Parts: sequence; C-alpha cells; structure tokens
Amino acid sequence: MSMLGMLATTKLGEATSGGGFWMPESASTVAPEIDGVFYFINNINYFFFALCVAILIWFAIRYHAKPSEHATFTTDAPTHNTPLELTWTAIPLLLVGVIFWLGMDGFLELSEAPDDSYEVQVTAQKWSWTFQHPDFGVTEAAELTVPLGRPVRLIMTSSDVLHSLFVPAFRVKNDVVPGRYTSLWFEATKPGQYRLYCAEYCGKDHSKMLAVVNVLPEDEFQTRLGKLAREYEDIADQDLPEYAMVRLYNRCASCHSLDGKSGTGPSFKGLWDRTKSGSTVFTDGSTLKDYMGPGGEFEVPENYIRDSILNPRHYIVQNYAATMPTFKGQLKERQIDAMVLMLKNLDRLIDEQGNPIENPDLSGADVSTGAQK
Ligand code: CUA
Repeated sequence: MSMLGMLATTKLGEATSGGGFWMPESASTVAPEIDGVFYFINNINYFFFALCVAILIWFAIRYHAKPSEHATFTTDAPTHNTPLELTWTAIPLLLVGVIFWLGMDGFLELSEAPDDSYEVQVTAQKWSWTFQHPDFGVTEAAELTVPLGRPVRLIMTSSDVLHSLFVPAFRVKNDVVPGRYTSLWFEATKPGQYRLYCAEYCGKDHSKMLAVVNVLPEDEFQTRLGKLAREYEDIADQDLPEYAMVRLYNRCASCHSLDGKSGTGPSFKGLWDRTKSGSTVFTDGSTLKDYMGPGGEFEVPENYIRDSILNPRHYIVQNYAATMPTFKGQLKERQIDAMVLMLKNLDRLIDEQGNPIENPDLSGADVSTGAQK
C-alpha cells in the first residue's frame, strides 16, 4: 500500500471495521482501504457542501438589494479576479488528483491476486451459484467455504447471461460473463458467514440469486472440505434423500418450490406422483405416459427425472418455458441418485407447508433409483 493509501486508511478507515452508518461490516484485508477512499471523498463533499451553502446564505444577506435600489441597479461588478480563479482551479485539481491516486492504488491492488491464492471456480447461472474447489474435487452450491487469512481467488464464468458476484463485507464485486473468465480475490480477516449477492439484473429471480460465504479457520476449513469431498461417497443409501434436500436442493430452490406453488419451474411437491402416473403434460400436447410403456424412453419412470436434470430442455412441461440449465458435469452419478430419491421420498422430508423437516424419519424410505447396478 502506498503512503497516501496508508494515510487514508488510518485516518478515515478506523471507524469502519465493525460497519458503520454508511458501510456494512468489513471482513477483508482490502475493505479498510476502500472504505478510506469512500470516507475521504464523502468528507470532501460534506466540507464543500457546507462551505457553498454558508457563502450562498451570507451573499444573499450581504448583497440583498432594498426596493428603493431596484431602479438604479447597475452591473459594474468585477468581471474577473485572477488569484481567486487560480485558487478555485488548483485546489479541486489537487483533490481529484489525490482521489485518482487513492482509487488507482486500490484498483491495482484488487486487480492482481497474490501468487499463493487459494483458487475456486465459480459458475453463475439463472439463478444460482456453483463453487468448485479443484484442490479437493468438491462442488458447493449456494455456499462458498473459504479459509481465514489466506488470499482466495475466484475464477468466474456464466453459463447463460451476465451476472455479477458481490460480497459487501469484503468490498469486492465483479461481473460474471458468459463465454469468458473474470476473476476477483479477497482475503477474509474474520471467521463467520457473509452474504454473497448477484449484483446484475439477470432476469425474473435475480433477487433470489444469493449465497453465503463461510469463512473458517485453516484447520476447520481443511476438515470441512475433506469431509465434503467424501460426503456423497460415504453416505448410506438410506440417507441420500436427506443429503439431497440439505446439500443439493438449494440449487433448485429459486425455481422449484416445495409447497406446491408454481415458480419458474413446476413445484417439486407431488412431482414424483405426477411422474409415476405419467400425468405430466408437455408443451407439444403429449403426456409423459406416451413415453412410458414397455420399450418407451421412460419405461423406468426414474429416468424421466434423471433426463430432466441432464437434458432439461428435452421435454418442457406445459405452461413453463425452456429456461432450466443442464446440470451435466456438475452432479456426480451418486448425487443424481440422491436427487431422484429426494423427489421420491419428498413427503418424508418436508412438512405440510413445504418446509424441510430436521432429522426426518427415513426408515422404510424408497431407495431404489431404477438404475441397474
Ligand atoms: Cu444473476 Cu442477477
């Protein structure tokens, strides 16, 4: 950090570490400097606002013309004053020069991640976030677990439209663009959970495109990621439905409700009954039943769910649009099994209102996926 940056930070950034009137909580190494620049500019604005209003009021009183003087009003006021004009040019020039320096300094620091950064691959899609940890072979959804006190670099891309990743507590934001990578980095300074937003309007459920950044101390981070890496391999078949509800459903939640309400996609409530009975109607007027008989594509009805996850635009349910992205390559075979089992056992996993039940009773749950093992 430059001398000037240090100055702005120590003088103006101090009051901001716990969040203040203007700023949310701050929890990254770059936050104090960014807040410093903000407060620096803001304080200049306060000062000149007060100065201009004070002079305005003073002039209004001092040069107020009495009614008797109106007829003799002349315009022989001075037309210029070189020292005054030089002063009011030089001072703002100096100030914007300092603002540029502070801004550029922070921008450069934010642009280049430290060499030893921990890397996470981010995929944005309408309307969810997926975070892949190549070091552990782990994929997280709607939750990003990162180590405390270590720089983290996000390499981001979008599978559909323009999104923007924003973590206010870290003071970092960058566009996420289809067909190319963008990146940003941060180093978290406080353990805890922080909100991650999409900050670019990306369609109907933009406001639901949320995630949580989970900052853990290094040893807890290693343990947690290690556990996530083995999670769906280690888990008993019996527990797969609950695993899908707790760990995978958050990727579906913005479009598929659990309470029967129609969203961007059909509700998951009753989906298995509609599938099993073949009552689902598609946009071309055909019904699922047409594909279900012996030798049909969905002779094993579980395959319809599997196909809907991997080739979501293949069959579109009536009254819905073809907006779902594919999850091919994002879900492991066993995770797809878990999703199928979640839908088959949904009644055991949610209550009447469609809220997930904690520690559901899964004894006697249907754990056949229809797949040949
Ligand atoms: Cu994604 Cu807004």
